Amino acid sequence: MRTPMIAGNWKMHKTLAEARELVTGIREGMGEMTGVEVLICPPVYLLFPMAKAIAGTPILMGAQNAHEEAQGAFTGETSVAMLKDTGATHVILGHSERRHVFGETNATLAKKVRAAVSGGLCAVYCVGETLEERESGRTQAVVEAQLRAVLGADVPAERLVIAYEPVWAIGTGKTATPDQAQEVHTFVRGLLGSIYDGPTGDGLRILYGGSVKPANSGDLLSQPDIDGALVGGACLVAADFLAIIGAGASQAAAAS
Ligand code: PGA
Repeated sequence: MRTPMIAGNWKMHKTLAEARELVTGIREGMGEMTGVEVLICPPVYLLFPMAKAIAGTPILMGAQNAHEEAQGAFTGETSVAMLKDTGATHVILGHSERRHVFGETNATLAKKVRAAVSGGLCAVYCVGETLEERESGRTQAVVEAQLRAVLGADVPAERLVIAYEPVWAIGTGKTATPDQAQEVHTFVRGLLGSIYDGPTGDGLRILYGGSVKPANSGDLLSQPDIDGALVGGACLVAADFLAIIGAGASQAAAAS
């Protein structure tokens, strides 16, 4: 069985005081919830204090980006080894904002994913189509290119989580319907099976992201190929994030 993962992408939000309040709320609210992995991805400057704040809890921590080189003259960037030093175990790579606002390509992401996994982090690799690509019937082709260009035998599946995030659903309040999401997740799982092998594809977690909220998380997470959520806006409020974690825990309980 795939353990559901609920990941919160804080993006460029939260001062230190606000972050401490949020993480305390999550920690206290999680109580006895089991069967679900919880990952917080704060902005890079908060990684050290948040590592301290989650110490001794099951909460995992990831970064939102990493540079592909080990070190050098790359002003403003952070290497995988630096992220590891903070206590981060995961890194989001290929988020649509990195692709569309900062111009990251599949070729760059192939290097970043390899740097992350060979440096000992788990990559949460994001794929997803724009509205125009969906409306012109290219969803599968875009997602396939994003996966095939970046994954391969030298990217160990045990260091990988996939997130399907349709770009048109991110921060827009428009969520893919559970059926629309499930359809792409099935397709992605098939591709992972062909890039790796069937059992590996079956074992990989595929998260859904794009306007996941407490109200829609139960329906999304009950789809057979949706193994968790990558949450933006709703992860900034402890009660909302906890409700989505609760949906993941219910899903895990129902499946066991
Ligand atoms: P959203 O963001 O939940 O605010 O749509 C999701 C994401 O960007 O990962």
